[in-house]
Amino acid sequence: MADSLYERLGGHSTLFEAMHRLYEKMQNDPVISHYFADMDIESLTRKQVSFMTRAFGGQSPSERRSLKEIHAGLNISNHDFNVLVRLLQETLTEIGIEIKLQHEVMAIIEDVRESVVSDSTDN
Ligand code: HEM
Repeated sequence: MADSLYERLGGHSTLFEAMHRLYEKMQNDPVISHYFADMDIESLTRKQVSFMTRAFGGQSPSERRSLKEIHAGLNISNHDFNVLVRLLQETLTEIGIEIKLQHEVMAIIEDVRESVVSDSTDN
């Protein structure tokens, strides 16, 4: 069987590095930083690594709540989501992930857009 996307990306160390950089960028972004103002970023980073590990075919304990439940009421717009997509692409490029793998990652992220976005008034 072919290696999972998780393994092809470089496993835990790559995902941890990517999520660490991504949260730093999100915390400094003028459009979406307010969502993370009072958050424990270290804890969020760990949870995000765990989520991505599962999403990319690795092994990790599963989350009790669905992504929809987690983000319900945050009023995240498509525009916010697009910012995250851009920052994630930037991060993956920075740490040297090849374009083909980036596309596989982005396809999985696009799949969760519907569960995360709850403010459809702002596209
Ligand atoms: C613009 C887009 C996004 C914003 C602004 C955002 C914001 C947030 C915030 C504020 C929390 C903390 C919620 C809380 O603890 O009450 C959170 C948690 C989380 N988010 Fe997002 N999120 C976004 C996109 C995503 C995407 C694309 C994914 C998955 C691919 C994701 C996965 C998670 C996970 C796994 C947690 C951890 C929940 C937990 O176990 O406590 N988020 N997000």
